[in-house]
Amino acid sequence: MWSAITAKYGRQWTSTVVKRYRSLTAYDISRMRDLLGDTNVKTDDLDSFNTDWLHTHKGRSQLVLEPNTTRQVSQVMAYLNDQSLPCVIQSGNTSLVAGSVPFDDEIIISMAKMRQIISFDETSGILVTESGVVLQTLEDYVNERGYIMPYDLGAKGSCLIGGNLATNAGGLRFIRYGSLHGSVLGVEVVLPDGRLLDLMSCMRKDNTGYDLKQLFIGSEGTLGVITKVSIQCPLKLRHQTVALVAVNSFDDLLKIYHKIRCDLTEYLTTFEMMDDIAMDAVVTNLKQTHPLNGNSSPFYVMFKLAANDCEHMEKRLAQVIEQLMDKQLISDGTYVSDDNLQRFQKLKSYRERIAEGLLVDGYSYKYDISLPLNVFYEIVNVMKDRLKTTKCLRVCGYGHIGDSNLHLNMTSKVFDTDIKSQIEPFLYEYIAKHKGSISAEHGLGLMKNRYLSYSKPAEAISMMKDIKRLIDPKNILNPNKMLPPIN
Ligand code: FAD
Ligand code: MLT
Ligand code: ZN
Repeated sequence: MWSAITAKYGRQWTSTVVKRYRSLTAYDISRMRDLLGDTNVKTDDLDSFNTDWLHTHKGRSQLVLEPNTTRQVSQVMAYLNDQSLPCVIQSGNTSLVAGSVPFDDEIIISMAKMRQIISFDETSGILVTESGVVLQTLEDYVNERGYIMPYDLGAKGSCLIGGNLATNAGGLRFIRYGSLHGSVLGVEVVLPDGRLLDLMSCMRKDNTGYDLKQLFIGSEGTLGVITKVSIQCPLKLRHQTVALVAVNSFDDLLKIYHKIRCDLTEYLTTFEMMDDIAMDAVVTNLKQTHPLNGNSSPFYVMFKLAANDCEHMEKRLAQVIEQLMDKQLISDGTYVSDDNLQRFQKLKSYRERIAEGLLVDGYSYKYDISLPLNVFYEIVNVMKDRLKTTKCLRVCGYGHIGDSNLHLNMTSKVFDTDIKSQIEPFLYEYIAKHKGSISAEHGLGLMKNRYLSYSKPAEAISMMKDIKRLIDPKNILNPNKMLPPIN
């Protein structure tokens, strides 16, 4: 039966059409205890599981399951499918589009107990792991063996590799190592009906039919539960240097980007930008000292270089910085190598902690968009103008400029419909006009799924819905997420 229900979304009430499922019973819970054991079934203190990282959505789940093994995931899914009970897969719960929390009262399947690292091949750099391992744990593990993970996010202390795959996470190394679509070699997936799909290849090359693993990378928990992953890790270069420089205009920032790509290309692993308002969110809200002794500037660039030959790399860096200063493209700056690990981490953190800093204002209106570089920053100024008479506290832009990925963020003390209506649908129309993407890396989840048509044609959306129906005909896996409501 289909019915309209009202759900709390973005601290405003919106109606959408969802499939009504039967209610959870005491018998269902006792079956789950039989399958998983008492300690892996939670019915109390579920607030943190029900609340998303941005505190924009609160689900009403009354049951959290914490399987230890793929077999348990399989048994749970077979039962839920048989009973048509909906569920949401949750890893680190750092989704920025409320993808990892229930829309309504879906059962939460937490992957956090599937945390065995299975194997690591020190010759090839191929890591095989269960999907519930924290990204930072994996980074430390492969670092000790001379490798790095091919991606890096500000949320690395909390997010799990399964969640990273499910969102096709981008982050700060994307410019150098590309997307998870390239570095993931294999996945093991439990399908909605409990069947196991074993795609756990460790081969880089395999042209035997459709590459099905790609379907699960970025599927946001709507097609299957990722339980294992094999991933190609790049070698760790012996020395890293991070630089933070002050820039007067966005045009200058683009010139710096071009110069650094041309002259330091063999070293470049990260190229990020932030404006003064984003920097202020870290400095003021998180009570940090200004990285350039209080010398505020309209823009900042944070870039990272890595090499085995440190001396040569730093010599080239010094030359490039001198040339950029001669041309007055940078007004101030600092750099530090990872020999001084504490200062190195601290300098990186001014960029990595912006999301955290913004949240201190109260409510964040978060937009993660792709735009061509020639119009990349223009929308921040347009938005400042549109919101100047509202209760908006901050409009800022930062992001992965090397990937044309802008994080446009606004804040206010509490959620405000007036601000939201000034942003949407105007912003989506603007992005569509410039043939950008309404979600460059965070996915669609619950917050952006209704706007998919701004980035994809009707034929593509219809094909996505067909795939969802084929794999999850009862629509029990993360219903109401990613795709516009299915009816
Ligand atoms: P969750 O948030 O728990 O889940 C995310 C989605 O994946 C949900 O739809 C969930 O149902 C699904 N899912 C989770 N696990 C599985 C599984 N095992 N099988 C199937 N589906 C699953 N994102 C970026 O891309 N780049 C960034 O630079 C970045 N920086 C961030 C910085 C901060 C401070 C924060 C809070 C978030 C950031 N994010 C970033 C967003 C977020 O961290 C990523 O999307 C991350 O990959 C989510 O991982 P998670 O383990 O928290 O997954
Ligand atoms: C980032 O790049 O910092 C993350 O994607 C989080 C954010 O958008 O704030
Ligand atoms: Zn990002």
